[in-house]
Amino acid sequence: MADAGPTKQSQWQKLIDYILGYQATWIADIGVKTGLFQAIADAGSSGIHEEPLARKLSFDARYTGVWCRGAYAFQFLDWDRAKGYRLAPHMQSLLLNEEDTQFLGGRIQFNAALYQDFQAFPKYLPTGETWPRSDHDPWLLEALKNMTKPDCAVITDHVLPQAPGTLARLKEGGIILDIGAGAGFAIVHYATRFPASRVVGLENDDASLDLARAAIQEAGLAGRVQVRNADANSMDYDSAFDLVTMNVTLHEVGGPLAYRNVLSKALRALRVGGVLVVSELPYPDSTASYRDNPVYQMMAGVQLHEALVGCGMITQGQLRDLLVEAGFRNVRVADQPLATRFMMLAEKGG
Ligand SMILES: C[S@@+](CC[C@H](N)C(=O)[O-])C[C@H]1O[C@@H](n2cnc3c(N)ncnc32)[C@H](O)[C@@H]1O
Repeated sequence: MADAGPTKQSQWQKLIDYILGYQATWIADIGVKTGLFQAIADAGSSGIHEEPLARKLSFDARYTGVWCRGAYAFQFLDWDRAKGYRLAPHMQSLLLNEEDTQFLGGRIQFNAALYQDFQAFPKYLPTGETWPRSDHDPWLLEALKNMTKPDCAVITDHVLPQAPGTLARLKEGGIILDIGAGAGFAIVHYATRFPASRVVGLENDDASLDLARAAIQEAGLAGRVQVRNADANSMDYDSAFDLVTMNVTLHEVGGPLAYRNVLSKALRALRVGGVLVVSELPYPDSTASYRDNPVYQMMAGVQLHEALVGCGMITQGQLRDLLVEAGFRNVRVADQPLATRFMMLAEKGG
């Protein structure tokens, strides 16, 4: 029997769910950004009513009430007449705990920041011109930093144990290169996790360099951590590093020729036995797969931003091939808990 396809009612419901998701994303973004979720979390199981919450944060009572009802409607908050509002189960970890590998507070902020690209896309559609990230609302960079925070702990705590020689070397000392250091959260994280190590970040975006330098200063790590203003395509290190990392950076360095160039330079930068960790967006290898799971759907949406800011797209299979072609040994997919990342390990042979 021929497949009758979805009903009109089920298609209607799909569109309603998308509209609800849009509203929920913005309500959650407001809650994270303004400290409303944190203040409600601080009240714990005792709960807090709208008026004391508004007073605590010096917010308007009516607007605070409007937001609280929205957050309750979308099940970020629970409510009862006696206690007022509390965070719904697990929302504290998922929305506020940057150490949790399932932390989504940053991803919500990033998706809210993408309104700019969705708004601008029709204007750029006829020309295919790009609109650099540096010309966006600066909040985008902050949101990007917050979104990628869990990646750093996943790399140190889940991925590096799969390269035990490198992990042991980093615990003793060792030197790390992070290509595309962004706002510097990872370089500070690596130096903190490996207190005897030295860490170098490469970055070629001025606004990100400023954020990274501030992060190093704030952490008091200027003696062991530095960020260099350099294009990864022109780096010239030879057998200098025990670990090279690229977190969602390779697809940004240019087109396929640049991917090959940067990977061969990363191989040269490693000492024999050293390890490269490449973490990328988990694009599937075929269009048909984009409906296979919600993360692939999300990647299709994120591409509207990535393409507009001039970034490429590397599928999972292409990344594997690029690493093998570049001459890495023991190229393998890392076992790690973040569905929103595809991470690979690769080694420099003798
Ligand atoms: C998506 S961001 C990720 C930043 C950081 N790794 C993180 O996890 O938050 C990619 C970064 O790579 C930087 N980048 C792109 N191309 C680069 C290049 N050719 N050389 C150095 N950095 C580059 C961008 O400026 C941006 O900060």
